[in-house]
Amino acid sequence: MKLIFIGPPGSGKGTQAKRLAARYAVPHISTGDMLREAIADGTDLGRQAAPIMASGALVSDDLMLGIIDERLAKSDAQRGFILDGFPRTLVQAEKLDTIVGKASGNGSEGLRVLQLLVPDDAIVERISLRRSCPTCGAIYHLASAPPAVDMVCDRDGAELIARPDDNETAVRKRLEAFHRQTLPVATYYKSQNLLREVDGVGPVDQVFERIEKSLS
Ligand code: AP5
Repeated sequence: MKLIFIGPPGSGKGTQAKRLAARYAVPHISTGDMLREAIADGTDLGRQAAPIMASGALVSDDLMLGIIDERLAKSDAQRGFILDGFPRTLVQAEKLDTIVGKASGNGSEGLRVLQLLVPDDAIVERISLRRSCPTCGAIYHLASAPPAVDMVCDRDGAELIARPDDNETAVRKRLEAFHRQTLPVATYYKSQNLLREVDGVGPVDQVFERIEKSLS
């Protein structure tokens, strides 16, 4: 399984990618999580990415290509992967073809692409009520998927946080970046007949069922 998730911010890519990764026993590779880890670790990459992410803009292709090349070369990604948040630009999509092509010998051969469709007004509600665990990355929603104890992660007891880029100004910019820079990536895969569109509105279990059906 070599799957790419495309969707606007807050569409449920992370929520669904975690489930699919467990179901197909392949790594969930989230470039957003990798950047947040780099920020938490205080690395050079983290220092460069932090202000860009906080503003809601995309980190440069050069930085992203370096980290994804390295990550996909690891042994656990050889059997497959669920990519969440990459590629987000046409340059990244073309580079991914080169990386995957090196392994399969044929460009985007074997790649499957899922686009989650969620309207912008639902995105704002989802993001404003999202909280996540800074330790294990678990994702909650204060109304539809709350933790058992208020603001405490069910898995490891850490205090839940709101992401710094989940404010109104940054969300607006993230949505704009999605429409301008990432939707052309969906078109790129559609033209190769690799893209499946899935309605991302409805309970998480129902969306997961739709995803599984579209993959079968
Ligand atoms: P990233 O971390 O990838 O953020 P994003 O794309 O904006 O997506 P989110 O993580 O906000 O949302 P999601 O779709 O995963 O939704 P979730 O499952 O959490 O990227 C962050 C930043 O990093 C970028 O802005 C950029 O700066 C940088 N970056 C990353 N990759 C890059 C790249 N390749 N190139 C350049 N820059 C890059 O769900 C959201 C909420 O909704 C949760 O509360 C959840 O519980 C809830 N929810 C989920 N499903 C449902 C449902 N069906 N019904 C109701 N609620 C639901």
